[in-house]
Amino acid sequence: MKILPILSSLAFAAGTSAFPAYGSLAGFGQEALNIIIPTLLIREPPPLRPGDIRGPCPGLNTLASHGYLPRNGMASPSQIVAAVQEGFNMENSLAVFVAYAAHLVDGNLLTDLMSIGGKSHLTGPDPPPPATAGGLNTHAVFEGDASMTRGDFFFGNNHDLDTTLWDQFVDFSVRFGAGNYNFTVAAELRHQRIQESIATNPSFSLVSPRYYTAFVESVFPIAFFVDGRKNDSQLDLSAASSFFLNNSFPPDFFRANGPRTAKGIDQVFEPYPILPGGNVGKINTYTVDPTSADFSNFCLLYTNFVNETIRGLYPEPTGVLRRALNTNLNYFYQGINNSGCTQIFPYGKD
Ligand code: HEM
Repeated sequence: MKILPILSSLAFAAGTSAFPAYGSLAGFGQEALNIIIPTLLIREPPPLRPGDIRGPCPGLNTLASHGYLPRNGMASPSQIVAAVQEGFNMENSLAVFVAYAAHLVDGNLLTDLMSIGGKSHLTGPDPPPPATAGGLNTHAVFEGDASMTRGDFFFGNNHDLDTTLWDQFVDFSVRFGAGNYNFTVAAELRHQRIQESIATNPSFSLVSPRYYTAFVESVFPIAFFVDGRKNDSQLDLSAASSFFLNNSFPPDFFRANGPRTAKGIDQVFEPYPILPGGNVGKINTYTVDPTSADFSNFCLLYTNFVNETIRGLYPEPTGVLRRALNTNLNYFYQGINNSGCTQIFPYGKD
């Protein structure tokens, strides 16, 4: 077992080879380590540096904190797909669908990069030019209202964790989950956050795609933040606080022990069913929007997203931009090509 390390340390000690920076130190005795270690440039996982980006998603923030994604928070959608699979065992087609949906609305399609946070350049409180372009903070295309731990865009900060909302997350987990976040808590908290937005945010919007993501995000902590060895759909508050408060894996965390999807949405939706809609300029004016996709028509989510959201952002693209849109729309569709939805080509097929 130990022959190889011994041989390479001997070769190294004899000056015949440099110890590689990527070589494992496992199996070396103290004597060899005393020779090797002084030659290594020791690096610790770096803390956040000025300019590093974190945003509204505790999952992606955590992956960036641990280097599964570039630590500066800027990544390509393919890096995001690889990271959510590697770090959390997100099922591949869900990862593709979510990552390319986000990239299409919030990323730079020509550089193939997006930021997991960053200032909004569309409707944010700061007018353009932005300090950092777009990113997942951009309101009303992917990011949306009634988040569990983030305030509504209307109130000024839609991306940082809000400590009052976090306290509510804890309180609900204690009251409805005996100290764990689970499907019962998720249903109560989802309802509560929607009712709060109806009662306080005159521009509250809960139409597709936010209608879906609001419920999907309620079950994500159960699918992905529960340690893979427990696998009991009960997220304890100490693990939850590691992810939500510190954007970090809890110590000794094991990812889910198989590919995971957004399972359990029905358990969150059914106790308090609501149709897509929003307030119409005043609080407490929630009005159903019959044009929005809902849970009875998944393909409308796809067609609305392409025909309304993407075409609204890119009405008449030409040249390289049109080609990049087509490439990314095609990847996006790969995430749902098993759902029986017909692919649409708003900018032609090439
Ligand atoms: C696959 C790529 C992903 C993208 C593009 C993405 C994007 C986002 C965005 C934009 C939000 C903010 C939505 C809002 O509340 O307004 C969000 C929230 C959230 N994400 Fe992700 N996410 C991804 C993967 C994940 C993963 C793998 C996890 C879990 C491990 C996760 C967990 C969450 C949770 C729990 C929230 C809700 C936060 C809250 O409501 O307070 N996400 N995500």
